[in-house]
Amino acid sequence: LCTLVVSCNLTNFIALKGSSLPSSFPNNFLFGTASSSYQFEGAFLSDGKGLSNWDVFSHQPGNIVDGTNGDVAVDHYHRYPKDPASSSKVLVVACPLSAQMNETFQYRNTTEDIDLMEYVGVDSYRFSISWARILPRIQPIVTLTHYDIPQELEDRYGAWLSTKVQEDFKYYADICFRNFGDRVKYWITFNEPNVVAIRGYRSGIYPPSHCSGSFGNCSTGDSEREPFIAAHNIILSHAAAVKIYRTRYQDKQRGIIGIAMNAIWFEPISNSSEDELAAERAQSFYMNWFLDPVIFGKYPAEMQDILGNLLPVFSKSDLEMLKSGVDFIGINQYTSFYVKDCIYSVCEQGPGVTKTEGYYLRTASKDGVLIGEPTAVDWLYIYPQGMEKEVTYIKARFHNTPMFITENGFGEFNDPNSTATVFLNDVKRVEYMNNYLDALATAIRNGADVRGYFAWSLLDNFEWVSGYTTRFGIHHVDYANLKRTPKLSANWYKQFVLNYKAHK
Ligand code: NOJ
Repeated sequence: LCTLVVSCNLTNFIALKGSSLPSSFPNNFLFGTASSSYQFEGAFLSDGKGLSNWDVFSHQPGNIVDGTNGDVAVDHYHRYPKDPASSSKVLVVACPLSAQMNETFQYRNTTEDIDLMEYVGVDSYRFSISWARILPRIQPIVTLTHYDIPQELEDRYGAWLSTKVQEDFKYYADICFRNFGDRVKYWITFNEPNVVAIRGYRSGIYPPSHCSGSFGNCSTGDSEREPFIAAHNIILSHAAAVKIYRTRYQDKQRGIIGIAMNAIWFEPISNSSEDELAAERAQSFYMNWFLDPVIFGKYPAEMQDILGNLLPVFSKSDLEMLKSGVDFIGINQYTSFYVKDCIYSVCEQGPGVTKTEGYYLRTASKDGVLIGEPTAVDWLYIYPQGMEKEVTYIKARFHNTPMFITENGFGEFNDPNSTATVFLNDVKRVEYMNNYLDALATAIRNGADVRGYFAWSLLDNFEWVSGYTTRFGIHHVDYANLKRTPKLSANWYKQFVLNYKAHK
């Protein structure tokens, strides 16, 4: 009872504090929650699914901090269908190529997770299709690749390191557009390809675990060159998929297609021109690395200057394909860092200061003062202004291409000694969402064309190499029985979305 009273008061308090906020969002703005196949579905071998790179990686001892994997995850695979009448519907997708996706799907009839979305009152849902696996009133925003890909691509030709993957990704995307495009009107080709390239091929902490030199303690791969090769193949795979969508489906299906980037706000640590240039360089080496090619058909100038022939070159036919562009930019915005120059001036690495991305130095603190409040997640600093600054930056650089906040959320440590009550009363998450939405609303009032916001995440789930040790959900999942319970944040978001709808 006590928790309930505290929760109610707090919900009212925060709703009151930001009461004009919901009305700041434009008509037809999408409010939703986000997820991904590997982190949510489980059912890793069900119904003919092939092994994915994340199945294989998480099964190898030592890769996931708590020794877990996504075999069951939060069992979303068995808890999503809304329409029990469609439980008899069988969809057969045949794919003779390397992804080996000969599949028979059976819609099952538990509706729990869609019910939770209805409970929160959101009208849209961002999720990903598992490429290795080959969905009613809720508008689906579908990601084609959210980190997990068929392991067979890795084994056969090195996945993103080979140009062969472009044809296979195009083939896979075509199957998805053909089979789901009547219902899916928002497509995202890749989730955070910058993270895939950096963590898969530089630091090696994600599959295929390639790292070398000063970037990690393994010697597989070539950390100087491979991230750029992988990125190049991802960019061209994206372009091939967009081209096929534009030429074969878009006119008839009337959907839109984009790409979602991990977008850290990089704040220059001083107003020296060196540090300002370094912050610009950080944006380029981290995010514009992908966005410039898919929007302007070329790599950022800073990358070309510094990398020289380490950077692959787009051929004439590549450039032709890149003209397909994007309809929107997906922005996963959680955190911010200070950036220090370390090319034109001397800078030192030290505790909390790492040259992780190579071409700029990022740090959370300036003169001992952190950029924002730290959290239990090592990379997550609470800095709501970063949301406004990032959106405003992207608006200016990409001529106000439509944007979606495809992810934003707050993670906390799954302390085994805490009771569920502690997690349910997630005041910090509510404050985080309220303040980031406030900052987003400011950017929108100043003209940014942002069309949706997706809270990461609907449920606590498998947080990649952190396993189940980190909780990002607005619903609590009891991992002993997979029971879902709305946290304070789910009820706060519910009220927020209700207020928004009441104003429209
Ligand atoms: C970004 C990733 O897309 C998502 O999979 C991850 O769980 C969240 N950030 C939180 O780290």
